[in-house]
Amino acid sequence: MSTPKRYYITTPIYYVNDAPHIGHAYTTLACDVMARFKRLDGYDVHFLTGTDEHGQKVEKSAAAANSEPQAFTDKVSQNFRDLAGFMNYSNDDFIRTTEARHKKSCQAIWQRLVDNDEIYLGSYAGWYAVRDEAYYAEEELITNADGKKIAPSGAEVEWVEEPSYFFRLSNWGDRLLEYYDNKPDVVLPKTRLNEVTSFIKGGLRDLSVSRTSFNWGIPVPGDDDHIMYVWLDALTNYITAAGFPDTDCEKYQNFWPADLHMVGKDILRFHAVYWPAFLMAAGLEPPRRIFAHGWWTNEGEKISKSLGNVIDPIELVEHYGLDQVRYFLMREVPFGNDGDFSHSSIVNRMNSDLANDLGNLVQRVLSMVHKNCEGRVPVLDTEGFISPDQKLLDQAIAMLDTVRRQLDGQSFHEALETVWLVVRAANAYVDHQAPWKLRKEDPQRMAYVLYSLCETIRYLGLILQPFMPDSCHKILDQLNINHNQRDFEAFSDEYALKGGTVLPKPEGIFPRFIELESADKAS
Ligand code: MSP
Repeated sequence: MSTPKRYYITTPIYYVNDAPHIGHAYTTLACDVMARFKRLDGYDVHFLTGTDEHGQKVEKSAAAANSEPQAFTDKVSQNFRDLAGFMNYSNDDFIRTTEARHKKSCQAIWQRLVDNDEIYLGSYAGWYAVRDEAYYAEEELITNADGKKIAPSGAEVEWVEEPSYFFRLSNWGDRLLEYYDNKPDVVLPKTRLNEVTSFIKGGLRDLSVSRTSFNWGIPVPGDDDHIMYVWLDALTNYITAAGFPDTDCEKYQNFWPADLHMVGKDILRFHAVYWPAFLMAAGLEPPRRIFAHGWWTNEGEKISKSLGNVIDPIELVEHYGLDQVRYFLMREVPFGNDGDFSHSSIVNRMNSDLANDLGNLVQRVLSMVHKNCEGRVPVLDTEGFISPDQKLLDQAIAMLDTVRRQLDGQSFHEALETVWLVVRAANAYVDHQAPWKLRKEDPQRMAYVLYSLCETIRYLGLILQPFMPDSCHKILDQLNINHNQRDFEAFSDEYALKGGTVLPKPEGIFPRFIELESADKAS
C-alpha cells in the first residue's frame, strides 16, 4: 500500500500585543503557498495558524489598553483572523491559546512530563525579557550605549526571583543532536543548524517552565500558584490542533508529527531546541522540519514601532494589489535570507515580471486567439507540432517536477525563477514564430503556434495558483478550464485544451503600476 499523502504545516502563533505587520503576513504567506501547492499535488493538508494570548507581555498590553486580558485578546486576535481572510490564506484551523481545547492539551503534556520525571520544583533567580518572553543567562546579556544590560535581541531584561518548576533540558542535549543527525533537513536553512548545535554544545541548563508573579496563563496541574511558562503553552498549540491529548484520534494519527513548522529566525531556538526536547521527554514524536526565514527591513531600516516604519500588510495590498504583494514577497528574497522592502523594488517586480513578462504573454496570446481564431482554442489539423512547439511544451510540463523539488526545500524564489524561465521562453517563442505573420501565409501553422502558447499558459496558470490564486483563477477562466481540472493531475497533455472550445473575451490581469506624482510617491 502506498503511504497516504498528508501534510501538516504551521505558522508561529502570533502575540496579540500588536496589530499584524508584514512579518506576520510573510510567515503565513509562505505557509499558504506550501499548503496550496501540496493540496494541488494531491495531499490531504492541514494548515494551522493562530494567536499566542497568554504571558506577561500580553497581560501588560491589556493593562495598557485598560482592558481585561480576555476582552483584549478577543479583540486583537480577531485582527489576525481578518488578516488571514484579507490575504487569501487557506488555513484549515485558527487556534487561540485561550481556548478550552488548548488548556486541556497543555495540562496533559505537563502531566506526561511530570509522570516521566522531567519536571521538578525549584526556584529561579535570573534575567527575563518580557518582550521576548525568554530567560537569559548572565553571559548572554550585552551592554547598551547607556551602560544598561539588555538581551542580545535588544529587549530590556528584568531580574526575577521566584519559585519555579524546571524542565530537565540539560538531559536532552545528546538526544537533540542525534535528532538533527538522523533527519538531515530537520532544521533549514542548513546554516541555521550551526547556531542551534553550538547553543546545545555550549551546555544546556534546565529550563524554568512556570511563573508565580502574575497569573495570565494556564494553571499548572495540581499547583494553582504557578502558571505555565508561555513558550511551553504556546508551542503546545501545534499538538492541540492535531487533537492532543487524544493521540489515538484520526487527526493525530494522520497529522502528527508536523511536516513543517515555519518560523522567523528569532524564534528558532524555541522550536528547534525546546520544542523537540519537550516532545521527546513527553514520549511524543518531534516535528519533521523547522524552517527559519529571515527578516524584512523597510527601505534599508530595521522595522520597529519606535521608528514608526512598521509596514501594514493591508495598506500594502490596497496600494499594490494582493497577488502583486504575494508574488513580490515570495520572489524578491531568497527564502531564509533577510530582505529589504522598498517601493521601487516592488514596482519593478510588478512592472517587469508581472506586467511585461507574464501579463503581456497572456494578453497578447489570448488577444490573437480572439481576433484570429474566432475566440476559440485553435483547431489543429494533421500537420503536427514541430520541434520549437514541442520544446516549449516539454519545458512547461517539466517545470512541475523542478518546482516540486524546490518547494520541498522551501525555495520559493527558485521555484518562481523556474516558472519564469518558461514565461520568458514562451515570449521568445512568440517573437520567433511571429504568429501575426502566419495568419495569411500559413494559417494552420499559426493555429499550432497559438495552440502551443495557450497550452503553455494553461501550465503556467496551474502552477502559479499557490502564489497568486486570484490571478491564476482568472487566467484559467480565460482558457475556459473546468474547475475540476485545475489540480496537478491536469499537468499533462491528457488534459490538453480541446480545439474549438469557446473562450471568453480576454482581459488584462496584471496592470502596470503607474507612479502618481509627488504625494503618492513620497508615501
Ligand atoms: N508568539 C511567538 C511565537 C510562538 S510560536 C509557538 C512570537 N510571535 S510574534 O508575533 O512576535 O512573531 C511572529 C513571527 O513574526 C516570528 O516568526 C517573527 O520572526 C516574525 N517577524 C516579526 N518581525 C519580522 C520582520 N520584520 N520580518 C519577517 N518576519 C518577522 O514570536
